[in-house]
Amino acid sequence: MYPLVFRTILARLDPEFAHHLGALVIRAAGVEPVASLVRRFTAPSPELRVDALGLRFDSPFGVAAGFDKNVTMGRGLGALGFGHVEVGTLTALPQPGNPRPRLFRLVADRAVINRMGFNNDGAVLAADRLRRLRRSRRRPVIGVNIGKSRVVAVDDATTDYVRSARLLAPLADYLVVNVSSPNTPGLRGLQAVETLRPLLTAVRDAAGDTPLLVKIAPDLSDDEVGDIARLAVDAGLSGLIATNTTIERSGLSTPVAAVEAMGAGGLSGAPLKDRAVQVLRLVRAAVPADFVVISAGGVETADDVRERVAAGATLVQGYTAFLYRGPLWARQINHGLVRR
Ligand code: FNR
Repeated sequence: MYPLVFRTILARLDPEFAHHLGALVIRAAGVEPVASLVRRFTAPSPELRVDALGLRFDSPFGVAAGFDKNVTMGRGLGALGFGHVEVGTLTALPQPGNPRPRLFRLVADRAVINRMGFNNDGAVLAADRLRRLRRSRRRPVIGVNIGKSRVVAVDDATTDYVRSARLLAPLADYLVVNVSSPNTPGLRGLQAVETLRPLLTAVRDAAGDTPLLVKIAPDLSDDEVGDIARLAVDAGLSGLIATNTTIERSGLSTPVAAVEAMGAGGLSGAPLKDRAVQVLRLVRAAVPADFVVISAGGVETADDVRERVAAGATLVQGYTAFLYRGPLWARQINHGLVRR
């Protein structure tokens, strides 16, 4: 049913407008009594539970950052069967993001390119919404992903991240330092070990008892991946998320001219799959067994989730395939995981 709706209606709409329509449906799925009805159909089997980061996840599969930037869909996404929702990226200061258009579909590749640029309502408003969400009786695990405010100079990034961390860590089940989005100038430079160490240490101190993770790009060299993974362990973090979107454009089926016309941004979805698995293996080889590794990038099916877990992922996230597969995606994955 959804593939038909996608082809005949959604694929003709501006992608960002389609996202807002989807958000309305998801929010409705989180409101009682609809939520209880939906849950009867979508609740993950108890055998899928994962204990990690001192938390209980109803499913190993969750929503990657960027889908629920402003903490408005947590209950609905939980009702649809996701075990966790990583909200954000949130910045200390509210910001509009890049001019539109900034989100593009590559249907032939089951991919998208985005240069959203951390459009979000800011940490203060998000904190209010997180407080309300935490009062819900039924909610998924909520991760909070933080990034650098655009107007803050890269040299002052630590102060800016610490500001968000102080405000949001007490309201988060886990906190993520995002240094890997390609759409904020200079952000990915923070992944250099000599700049990353003081940043992670300062945010870890600000985060208190909340588990802290760092999210990395797939475009790092293999050596850099290993170095950052070891740094994250050394700095006392609880885990690492691999990966964010890529600036690579090779191997796509969408015509080169069309891809070039879309312009700069991060590519996500199916073309990211192989590199995401490679990076996951590199990270797992560099960290102790109890260090949490969350894999994201090109996950579409229950078999993909199974492959990630076999390659060492503690938990798995997805975003792009949600746009192509629709609201029952998490249910399909959870059912597929139980079936075999
Ligand atoms: C993202 N992603 C992302 N990541 C992040 O850490 N902060 C963010 O704000 C965003 N924003 C965002 C917007 C859009 C439109 C997309 C498609 C993606 C990256 C996302 O969390 C994930 O790491 C990648 O998309 C790879 O997973 P998928 O999409 O291939 O399943």
